[in-house]
Amino acid sequence: MARLRLRSLIVGLASITIAAIARREVWRRKAFSSHAFLAASTRLPNASPLGARSGFRVTLQLRRANGRKLWEQDDDESALMSGLDFGNEGDLDSDLMESVESMRKEDKRRRVHAEETGHLPVQELEAVEKLLGPGVEKQSGTYVDGTFGRGGHSKSILGRLSPTGKLFAFDVDPAAVAVGRKLEQQDSRFRIFHRPFAEMKEALEGVQVDGVLLDVGVSNNQVDNEEHGFRIRDDVALDLRMNIHEGIAAADWLLNVSVEELAWVIHANGEENPLEAERIAEAVLCRQQQLGRYSFAGELADVVKTVKGDTGYSGNKHNSAKLTFNAIRMFLNNEMEQLSSALSAAFGLLSPGGRCVIITFNPKERRVVREFTDAHEEPIPSLQTLLTPARLCELYPLVATDLPYSVRKLQSSASPRGSEFLSNPRAKSSKLIALIKSARRVPQVRSIEAPRPQELRFRKPELPAFRGGGG
Ligand SMILES: C[S@@+](CC[C@H](N)C(=O)[O-])C[C@H]1O[C@@H](n2cnc3c(N)ncnc32)[C@H](O)[C@@H]1O
Repeated sequence: MARLRLRSLIVGLASITIAAIARREVWRRKAFSSHAFLAASTRLPNASPLGARSGFRVTLQLRRANGRKLWEQDDDESALMSGLDFGNEGDLDSDLMESVESMRKEDKRRRVHAEETGHLPVQELEAVEKLLGPGVEKQSGTYVDGTFGRGGHSKSILGRLSPTGKLFAFDVDPAAVAVGRKLEQQDSRFRIFHRPFAEMKEALEGVQVDGVLLDVGVSNNQVDNEEHGFRIRDDVALDLRMNIHEGIAAADWLLNVSVEELAWVIHANGEENPLEAERIAEAVLCRQQQLGRYSFAGELADVVKTVKGDTGYSGNKHNSAKLTFNAIRMFLNNEMEQLSSALSAAFGLLSPGGRCVIITFNPKERRVVREFTDAHEEPIPSLQTLLTPARLCELYPLVATDLPYSVRKLQSSASPRGSEFLSNPRAKSSKLIALIKSARRVPQVRSIEAPRPQELRFRKPELPAFRGGGG
């Protein structure tokens, strides 16, 4: 009997070990094939990247605009792990060789970073390139990484900065700041603030910066760290704060919230259907009244699941509760307000021509960025001369102000490219937006009429007759 138990214990331990090794191997492969391709696709100027995957085989290609193939790697993913292999290097133009070498170095650094920190930065190369411009040459400017996390983007920026360049970073999570403090010791060009990114203007009083990066939302590390309660599990405390030492935990916040307030939070930040949001809010607070304070994330998820009629066949046990959890998280961490204030603060710090790159993960975040851009764009010349001052102020609110700068879009909303889309689950929903601080050309317009509220500016026309039949 004892022998049998020992045998099953050994078999159990062996299978856990094999599964852990397999998981690590998959992680390594994913990290690599994604980065190899991204490096290739973003760092070679004038070369267009093509990527295809068929089962475990991955084909990566770079072509010139005229279609001439510059480089191709076609292998299974495990072979791609061995390094960026420019086997037919002779086909590469000599002006690209320097880029290839620096890509190799960067690619290695990225692989090591992903393995050491457990976080794969999203759209890393694209973001850094939009922030600093294309190419591999070193820049001497001053930059801000508003969302340090584990420093994936920060290290990439530092890699492009000259010895006189500077990078200031922010994060609210003490674990992220601890990683930043270590980087401060290693690199005198870097400094981290344990403050919300919306406070960057106060923290950097008097400093002019050339670029600001915001990679909003939560990091893989925060999802993996159970203290935050971001991964919905039965045995994880219902917290949902980025910094668990500040503010109020979700379980405590629920104790004093009304049904109307909870419904608003769920609807405004996640659940599109207002009635569903009300039903969830009502059920969540009814359960609390009956059984007391929520202790675990799973308890809240079960209530949401019941309201949504989730049969549990969706694969992930708690999938249907995600929107509600995200909504409460976004509210407790003031995510939309922080983003909106950070954009104003960033443009206050930026020098003319400076850039702000935002990596967003949901439509609400993109809406905040859009509202900021709408409020700061200059009118197109044809409208500027044709419209009355009142109408111009309605359509381009910037003109009514004396703000000395305007905001222009450099990149509207770009999805991740190539195999990052396939290999990094967090990247799938990401959209990169890049804005630029421009000189203000249009002088202040004064109108005696105040802008009309939005309800008055839209009217549904009479429905035209519709006849679909033949007779
Ligand atoms: C998606 S992660 C950033 C990952 C990072 N770019 C990297 O490569 O490791 C977002 C980070 O922003 C931080 N964060 C979220 N809201 C913040 C805020 N209002 N102020 C400062 N940091 C914030 C989070 O704590 C988290 O570490």
